[in-house]
Amino acid sequence: MSLLIKNGRVITATDDYVADVFIVGEKIAAIGAGLPVKADEEIDATGMLIFPGGIDPHVHLEMPFMGTYSSDTHETGTRAALFGGTTTVIDFVLQTQGRSLHEALGEWNKRAHNTTFGDYSFHMAVTDFNETTRKEIKEMIEEEGITSFKTFMAYKGALMIDDRQMIGLMEEVKKQGGLVTVHATNGDMIDYLVQKNREEGNLSPLYHYLSQPEVTEAEASERFIDMLDYTGCPGYIVHMTCEGALNAVRNATKRNQHLFVETCIQYLLLDASLYEKNFEGAKWVMSPPLREKKDQKALWSGINQGLVNVVATDHCPFMWEQKKMGEKDFSKIPNGHPAIENRMELLYSEGVAAGKITLNKFVEVACTNPAKIFGMFPRKGTVAPGSDADIVIFDPNKKHKLSAKTHHMNVDYSGYEGWEVTGKVKSVLLRGKVAVDNDECKIEKGYGQFVKREKVSGKI
Ligand code: URP
Ligand code: ZN
Ligand code: ZN
Repeated sequence: MSLLIKNGRVITATDDYVADVFIVGEKIAAIGAGLPVKADEEIDATGMLIFPGGIDPHVHLEMPFMGTYSSDTHETGTRAALFGGTTTVIDFVLQTQGRSLHEALGEWNKRAHNTTFGDYSFHMAVTDFNETTRKEIKEMIEEEGITSFKTFMAYKGALMIDDRQMIGLMEEVKKQGGLVTVHATNGDMIDYLVQKNREEGNLSPLYHYLSQPEVTEAEASERFIDMLDYTGCPGYIVHMTCEGALNAVRNATKRNQHLFVETCIQYLLLDASLYEKNFEGAKWVMSPPLREKKDQKALWSGINQGLVNVVATDHCPFMWEQKKMGEKDFSKIPNGHPAIENRMELLYSEGVAAGKITLNKFVEVACTNPAKIFGMFPRKGTVAPGSDADIVIFDPNKKHKLSAKTHHMNVDYSGYEGWEVTGKVKSVLLRGKVAVDNDECKIEKGYGQFVKREKVSGKI
């Protein structure tokens, strides 16, 4: 089966030109102006942008968390992702403390195998680093193609590991050719502040925000970066939200560290004033919390300065009924926010169309860098001969509104209800097959494949 996408404006992290893209089977076979080829099917993409399928390296699908499960499954979440132009996601396997990494992977494999629409990979979240876990790191990397290991410096009593475990993990991961990723906030400080607010009767969602001040993230980010520097391990900080943490990254660049930084679309666009809406603020209860306008400014500049490498979502949706578990106590509101479907269109609209970032930067942070950092490039993350034909055909001028009434995520509210955005996904190809076309899904559940990832170099 072959397909010719004619006359689109091809955007990669470095290039911008009008050409035809010829696809044979699952791969891009050739790119050029007026290609002299005969294809089984043709798509006219005149006036459209052609960019690589988005890669969201931070999503939580059907994740057991805070006494419930995130509401998108691997099936519904990867389908919604495709509607928004994201063709590959990296989900998190959570080790249960006292159990092995293999056991956890077995569980997640059962949930994802043959159920996904889009392609997917896993990070392994290490919540209990001990001698058994140490031995499993090499197997995860070499046999399973799972090369990134997630750690939590917060969620005390649940997912958090201490610095002793962190150092041990970093040493082993460096030795085996992987990457340590981190939720970098000071778990002890947050635990203290949560407790204090509850005792004082401060129970509304606003106190979720006030229990995680900027310093908790700045301090933990700096500590993580120092431990990386000491061990020489490559690292990646997930969901960075604030200026203080970014300053720690700026210092790390002076030491030429192998450090990457992710922010998420919500931290670029939303701010903490949303927590003043009484319980409605629960829609945006996530960790770290939304911050201030000055932090949004710092993050946008960080993207342009190359300090922030990736824009992800930390997609972790909960139905409103689930959020209501914390109606009387903010510390019981399941933490997380839905965005897997909205990331690319929001970043294009509020970043590119609003003049904050270039089209090339858009592709770099939403597609190419995630592929490079996590060992999937050039198979994924670019439009080039030999790469998987994961392609978004995008109408840059079409305006539309985001709403829970029309989105495909399995969650009954939107964090962006009624927002008008400029630019819309028209069609999405996944490994050469039209997966979405004009708001219709064209593939079946189970088409998505697990992506085995390469060892990482710590450089992009
Ligand atoms: O609030 C969040 N971020 N929920 C998902 C878990 C995490 O910390 O990434
Ligand atoms: Zn986190
Ligand atoms: Zn997360």
